[in-house]
Amino acid sequence: MNRSGHFINQMFLPLTADRLRLATSLISRRKSDHLRIVNENDVSHGGGTLLDSVHLIHNALPEVDFGNINLGTPFFGKRLSAPLMITSMTGGAERAESLNRDLASVAQDKGIAFAVGSQRVMFRYPETVSDFAVREYIPDGVLLGNVGAVQLIEYSSDEVAELAKRIEADALCVHLNPAQELVQKEGNRIFTGLLDGIARLMDKMDGRILVKETGAGLSKDVLKRLRFIGVEYIDVAGAGGTSWTKVESYRSSNEELIQSGKTFSDWGIPTAASLAWAKKEFSDSATIVASGGIENGLDVARAIVLGADIAGFARSVLKSYMDSGIDGAANYIDIVVHELKVALNLTGSKDLASFKNAEFKISGQLRDWM
Ligand SMILES: Cc1cc2nc3c(=O)[nH]c(=O)nc-3n(C[C@H](O)[C@H](O)[C@H](O)COP(=O)(O)O)c2cc1C
Repeated sequence: MNRSGHFINQMFLPLTADRLRLATSLISRRKSDHLRIVNENDVSHGGGTLLDSVHLIHNALPEVDFGNINLGTPFFGKRLSAPLMITSMTGGAERAESLNRDLASVAQDKGIAFAVGSQRVMFRYPETVSDFAVREYIPDGVLLGNVGAVQLIEYSSDEVAELAKRIEADALCVHLNPAQELVQKEGNRIFTGLLDGIARLMDKMDGRILVKETGAGLSKDVLKRLRFIGVEYIDVAGAGGTSWTKVESYRSSNEELIQSGKTFSDWGIPTAASLAWAKKEFSDSATIVASGGIENGLDVARAIVLGADIAGFARSVLKSYMDSGIDGAANYIDIVVHELKVALNLTGSKDLASFKNAEFKISGQLRDWM
């Protein structure tokens, strides 16, 4: 903790000797850069999530006892206390182990889901499993692993499924991030065969996978193809929050990539639009996570009436953790939960099932997208 009581630099203290080999690797440096850049710079997408185009209709006679509002919701065969999830961030980076451990503890305490960051590093450095193996900190809760779809071409379904098994995860997130890869020096340039890879992994893991974007959203066509292969869990991770093209433009030293990252910094489908499309495509045949720019309980509420079952956040919870440690992250979740309950109360809803039928209007740009 620094003199002002902040934890920021704890993540970037000198390394212990046994982490040195890993720390000098490209993957580790990249993950450390991401944490630092997201924390220190304005990496917000310029266009917004469009969730503010969703207007819940106020009920001045709600007939609801605030203290009895129930936010319980199912997820991967377990029950969350609130429809929230801390989405994938890190592993294999400086101090990633403490970050994952601390955020997993917060998720356990608050009864929400937690996903570790990309486990790709484990293929080459199996010893990094300790960064991700946080089951003891979230013994009853939903813990998800993470891998990039591009790794499904490089590694067999058996090898990928092993990532989840080694950390006792309930399921594996598979991330799609072509925009980021294309403005990253070491990024992947081959995106053929990814859907087949996802289908193979679906078989191998009996459907226990959640396909997610990373801040650019899922289009109607992509949603249709995912439904076609039987995907039952998706996270639209739309535009309006962290812009990964922007993050990479801060990281790069190559003029072509710096400029491309800037040019495409506001690329993507707004979270609200992608979410509405997802609900239309899947109806109730999938659990839909809304993420990408979710900052408060009203964002969560708006996402739920548009069709989300669960809302997720990465950067907002990371920032509260970097500012004030575990207490900061826990406090942030408490505020989001309280605000969500206020939204339920003010629409006369005693639980999420009745809230999903709450009255709302859609205005502005979101109406055009839909
Ligand atoms: C520091 C950081 C690292 C991330 N690393 C990963 C990752 O390894 N795998 C992944 O699927 N998403 C990763 N993400 C993306 C988030 O899970 C999320 O989809 C995206 O940031 C949009 O959400 P946000 O606007 O709430 O940040 C990362 C996000 C942050 C902030």
